Amino acid sequence: MEKYYITTAIAYASGKPHIGNTYEIVLADAIARFKRLQGYDVYFQTGTDEHGEKIELKAKEANMSPQSYVDNNAKEIKNIWDVMNTSYDKFVRTTDNNHKKIVQHIFKYMYDKGDIYKGEYQGMYCTPCESFWTESQLIDGKCPDCGRDVQVKCEEAYFFRLSKYQDKLVEYINNHPDFIQPISRKNEMINNFIKPGLQDLCVSRSSFSWGINVDFDPKHVIYVWLDALTNYITNIGFDINKQSTEFNRLWPADLHLVGKDIIRFHSIYWPCFLMSLGLPLPKKIFGHPWLIMEDGKMSKSKGNVIYADDLVKEFGVDAVRYYFLHEIPFANDGIFSKELLINKINSDLANNLGNLLNRTMAMSKKYFDGIVMSKNYVEDIDNDLINSSISLYDKVCHNMDDLKVCDAIDNILEVLSKCNKYIDDTMPWILAKNGQNKRLGTVLYNLLESIRICAVLLQAFIPDTAERIFKQLNTTKKEFSTLKGFNGMTEGDSLGESEVLFKRIEVVKD
Ligand code: MSP
Repeated sequence: MEKYYITTAIAYASGKPHIGNTYEIVLADAIARFKRLQGYDVYFQTGTDEHGEKIELKAKEANMSPQSYVDNNAKEIKNIWDVMNTSYDKFVRTTDNNHKKIVQHIFKYMYDKGDIYKGEYQGMYCTPCESFWTESQLIDGKCPDCGRDVQVKCEEAYFFRLSKYQDKLVEYINNHPDFIQPISRKNEMINNFIKPGLQDLCVSRSSFSWGINVDFDPKHVIYVWLDALTNYITNIGFDINKQSTEFNRLWPADLHLVGKDIIRFHSIYWPCFLMSLGLPLPKKIFGHPWLIMEDGKMSKSKGNVIYADDLVKEFGVDAVRYYFLHEIPFANDGIFSKELLINKINSDLANNLGNLLNRTMAMSKKYFDGIVMSKNYVEDIDNDLINSSISLYDKVCHNMDDLKVCDAIDNILEVLSKCNKYIDDTMPWILAKNGQNKRLGTVLYNLLESIRICAVLLQAFIPDTAERIFKQLNTTKKEFSTLKGFNGMTEGDSLGESEVLFKRIEVVKD
């Protein structure tokens, strides 16, 4: 079985994650579930990034030790990942002892090799982003990432020779057109960051202590991004001079899924660190767009922060998953509001999908006591629906290969809409009235089988709902291998109990 190693960024253990951070784990989960259904041996890793000055400060504010502070937050983050029904294989933490030990080995190895050297750093530092900036990178004197004030900082520090790897990195990016996705991000990396020249990167700090010590010079802690990025290898069995079989099987990663704001760290620093370690580079880095609010970025100061567990309590997990996956296109930010969520639940889930299943089940019960009838009484009008259902798998796979999850869901919605139209066009109640029972049986077969096909594919996106559909259809044909023909439902089988999938939500306007 071919392996597929997928990772998310590891979230800062600095507070409860909002729906923006939660979007990423759901997106990764949809891709991981889809790959599993395609037959890949998927390994899906996520976790928390727990060191750094920001966390040290926040713990102090909260009157807690940094360790108990991150313990609490990591628990909360993991809990939200679980509330979202995400199927990760491993939840990693950078305060894990094994990770810390290997990061020290990595640092020492790079130092011994001459890729890390001791020097002095003077620069502008943004504490919330844990980033040093040069004057020219600042925007109006502020941090280019978050827009906040920066401070001048000067300290003895270790540097990584990023400049040494610049040419190799450019060559790699040019020879691997799929390495950085979407393409617009790749151009941004090359033109804005790499072409102006890579400066050696400061990879240690001595102004605070919450981090992994440089073991041969303990007043320094290792830069949080060197610590965090290596999570992708330390947790699968990498160590200097002894790599596990698991590591050799899984590395290089097939996909690092990260937000657009941190693609720079993943497509520049991370590949250079890997080249220094003599390891192959990940196959793909996808910088996904952001989920934003109608009034812009989510922030505590704006008071517009929304948490996924609250939404799940109100609307159910699959409604929230569906919204995240369908409303954030491949390359543009998606907007969230409760009103938009409710509209989507009503139009796509309650109406297009839920109502279709309900009507089909009700007609099958009414006309045939819930027994699946023969598919053999076909007419020309059936061709479009049958062909669309049969070709759906390839279309969805194609979009999923390109990580176009929202387009893949659109493909499914299209078939569901076709089913609804097919009911209007074939008018089963007239067939019943005219006593055309055989034809009526086939019409219902076509609907049931098309719904089954959609449910098989929906498993990756809204797994609980897909399961509830299978239960109503009373089918065990859930594998992708059942999508090749149009014969998953079996004549003579009984359907299960009907149940409303999603209730329409009435919006009370005040
Ligand atoms: N700790 C670093 C990542 C280190 S990876 C070696 C970090 N953490 S974070 O908690 O700030 O962000 C975690 C992920 O959530 C990032 O990929 C980030 O881009 C993503 N998002 C943060 N806000 C987001 C939205 N509003 N929308 C979508 N994704 C968002 O960065």
